[in-house]
Amino acid sequence: MFFDHIEAAPADPILGLTEAFNRDTRADKINLGVGVYKDEDGKTLILKSVKKAEQLLLEGESTKSYLPITGLPEYGRLARELIFGAGSELVDGGRAISCHCPGGTGALRIGADFIHQQNLTRTVWISDPTWVNHYQIANSSGLNFERYPYYDRINHNLAFERMLETLSQAKEGDVVLLHACCHNPTGIDPTHEQWEEIADFLAKRHLLPALDFAYQGFGKGLDEDAWGVREIIRRCPEVVISSSFSKNFGLYSERAGVLTVVSADEKTAAKVLSQVKVAIRTAISNPPAHGEKIVTTILSDRDLRAEWESELRVMRDRIRRMRVLLVEKLKEAGAGDFSFITEQNGMFSFSGLNKEQVEKLREDYGIYAVASGRICVAGITERNVERLAQSIAAVVMAG
Ligand code: LMR
Repeated sequence: MFFDHIEAAPADPILGLTEAFNRDTRADKINLGVGVYKDEDGKTLILKSVKKAEQLLLEGESTKSYLPITGLPEYGRLARELIFGAGSELVDGGRAISCHCPGGTGALRIGADFIHQQNLTRTVWISDPTWVNHYQIANSSGLNFERYPYYDRINHNLAFERMLETLSQAKEGDVVLLHACCHNPTGIDPTHEQWEEIADFLAKRHLLPALDFAYQGFGKGLDEDAWGVREIIRRCPEVVISSSFSKNFGLYSERAGVLTVVSADEKTAAKVLSQVKVAIRTAISNPPAHGEKIVTTILSDRDLRAEWESELRVMRDRIRRMRVLLVEKLKEAGAGDFSFITEQNGMFSFSGLNKEQVEKLREDYGIYAVASGRICVAGITERNVERLAQSIAAVVMAG
């Protein structure tokens, strides 16, 4: 037999939780595992702006023929406008190229393939902790990873000194992967001053910045969340960026992502583009159309764009409200002071719960969180927050 020696892989630490959650028959179960936004009724609905764009596409579309390998040029241009800001020379100037990849994961993977195939480095420096898939993506592309400290567990903030101290061991040309905003899983982002220092550090040491930009708009706002990326761009001539529209457009299953590579000049950018095209052609041939057409339709129509921005604001504000409410309810339930949760950005909170406590929450209370203690605040509602806080308090007090 060819396959009988194969060992079963463990369930995915995030998506595996959804599978377990779906099997759970308890009526009051709560899924705070996967990073998916839920509204106050606990539903992940399609945004109104997306529905309208889909309606337009349904009426106007006349072919399902292949897209270009890199996707529609207008999609790439609009993505660059979101990343760099409308006035940036990188939107149309030719130094930056953008390609549609299937989701943020697809963009990370194609970016890693490109780095490996072009022999740029063997080593990617990854924050500890990080989104668990980063390790697998680096390894599958043939790259090694090293970890740099990111989270100070005692003070619940960024371990900035230790981060730079460790990164000073990186060799010229190594890739440093940063979360552009709403760090997954900690929700802790560098301050403006820290971003400036990071950008200087990378530029001086000739390290290649790679930015995972999966949550633009979920922290403080579309432009505000791009602050770190734009600061890095000002100081580093070459940058790789993976963006995702899964969260901010709620297009999870449409796999709309973008890989953007900034080069020092246009001539180099054209060569980079040709090689990224080879990486895409080899991995997926060419991208799926529906998600990118939705994003393109919304971003290029003034009214739809305004509606989308307001829907994004509603999601962002609701998550912020749930942070405050959770902290309040935890205090009332006697769990202690969790006020650091209100300082974190985006969908996630690094709750401080340990693996055993997370397990107990799942087994005894039907509350699903990632083993690291990450909870998806976007899954909390006014209806479930009380029970959540009481369950966390019970688990914390049990030791
Ligand atoms: C998450 O971190 O929960 C999301 O990015 C979803 C995923 O694919 O893991």
